[in-house]
Amino acid sequence: MPMPEDSRQMRLWQVRRHWDALAKMDPFFAVLTDPGKEGNKWAISEFFVTGVAEVARDVERLEALAPGFAREHALDFGCGAGRLTQALGLHFARTTGIDISGHMVELAGAHCTLPQVAFVQNTRPDLRMFADGSFSLVYSRITLQHIAPRYTRRYLREFVRVLAPGGLLSVQIPERVPAGDPPDRLRFSLWPPTMVMRINRYIRYHYPGWFPGTPKMQMYALSRDEVLQSLAEAGAEVLSVDQSEHGNVDNLVYIARKVRAGASLPY
Ligand SMILES: C[S@@+](CC[C@H](N)C(=O)[O-])C[C@H]1O[C@@H](n2cnc3c(N)ncnc32)[C@H](O)[C@@H]1O
Repeated sequence: MPMPEDSRQMRLWQVRRHWDALAKMDPFFAVLTDPGKEGNKWAISEFFVTGVAEVARDVERLEALAPGFAREHALDFGCGAGRLTQALGLHFARTTGIDISGHMVELAGAHCTLPQVAFVQNTRPDLRMFADGSFSLVYSRITLQHIAPRYTRRYLREFVRVLAPGGLLSVQIPERVPAGDPPDRLRFSLWPPTMVMRINRYIRYHYPGWFPGTPKMQMYALSRDEVLQSLAEAGAEVLSVDQSEHGNVDNLVYIARKVRAGASLPY
């Protein structure tokens, strides 16, 4: 059953504006919100090392499910500062990271010296910049959880389209938004003291797209049934649904293989 849509879901131009603002303020913490790292406290080397370890575990899992899988060209969707893109570059002949935020793409490029790794900005709700069958792997972590379901459904079909036959997909999508997000303290309450201040705070929190100066990460989920259906329709067979190392039990990693071409999207 598709989840009900919410008219407050951010549109892509709002998502871009918010991630650009986050990238200017505290980019590494915006990507990995580890306690104690807020306020530009990530040591850059420590930040990138997390990606090397994470990708090594993920590639090992792919190898277990699809031994000898092709390692020609990987796509990292929602690459941010390139934490995982650079790490993928150690396992693939070529890796491309794409991100909606131009500031994130610039930052990723500035911190990468690997010639086989490239970064590009994509602000569109599709991947038309890539031809069918371009990649051996489409990979995405802690990104689709920030994108409204109406876009994620479309991206899932695009991920399969840009995979070569037999290519693999490994993407993380929460099944449910964790309780307490948005934090309870930010729901409507009797504080601050005046009604005007309360309404102002409520509107700022719930309609973040209207206030670019106060960036906010929105959180979204897609049901397991819907993801499985979208992947099947797009022409992929699901090899496993694992629990993600990011977040709680409701956060899933779908690993799938392209088995046929799905119906193409009207651009
Ligand atoms: C939490 S960061 C994760 C970065 C990276 N995957 C990592 O784990 O290090 C989420 C990234 O997704 C990007 N993003 C959000 N919506 C996007 C979209 N529609 N297309 C591409 N990138 C997007 C944001 O700009 C941000 O850089």
